[in-house]
Amino acid sequence: MSRTMKIVTFGALVLFSAIQFVPYGKNHTNPPILNEVQWDVPRTQELFNRACADCHSHQTVYPWYAHVAPFSWLVMHDIEEGREKLNVSMMGVQTKNKVKDAADEVKEREMPILPYLLAHPAARLSDREKTELIHGLEETFGK
Ligand code: HEC
Repeated sequence: MSRTMKIVTFGALVLFSAIQFVPYGKNHTNPPILNEVQWDVPRTQELFNRACADCHSHQTVYPWYAHVAPFSWLVMHDIEEGREKLNVSMMGVQTKNKVKDAADEVKEREMPILPYLLAHPAARLSDREKTELIHGLEETFGK
């Protein structure tokens, strides 16, 4: 390795180690569940849990890379933003809760977001499962 490469590699390692001390993204405690959804059928909840709940509820399961900066920052940011828009653990408590848009997001293939799907094969729904989820979300939250 050239001297420059050694310095660059060393610098990258120091930087990587240093960012691990940033507190943002480290707290993985789920807030309390203040209100639960009355799902139309258990199947809707099952599909929602598979594809949506990590970012839209207080039942987030954090993956291993959520412990490693800078990935932990991205994960935390998605969860914060996701919960702010739609949070099934805050039904009736959180004023801006876009539950009525949930079915449309699945229809238009906007949700779940692509990076999440790449990292979570279980969240990839088949066309049939998508149809079931869309129908279930409409039954549960209204059209
Ligand atoms: C990896 C985290 C993640 C997952 C998983 C996820 N979402 Fe989201 N969701 C977000 C983020 C971040 C936003 C806000 C940014 C945006 O609208 O793109 C959002 C926004 C939304 C919104 C509001 C859109 C608007 O009009 O502002 C709805 C509704 C929604 N998601 C439904 C779903 C449904 C239904 C699923 C499962 C099929 C799902 N999401 C899965 C992160 C996620």
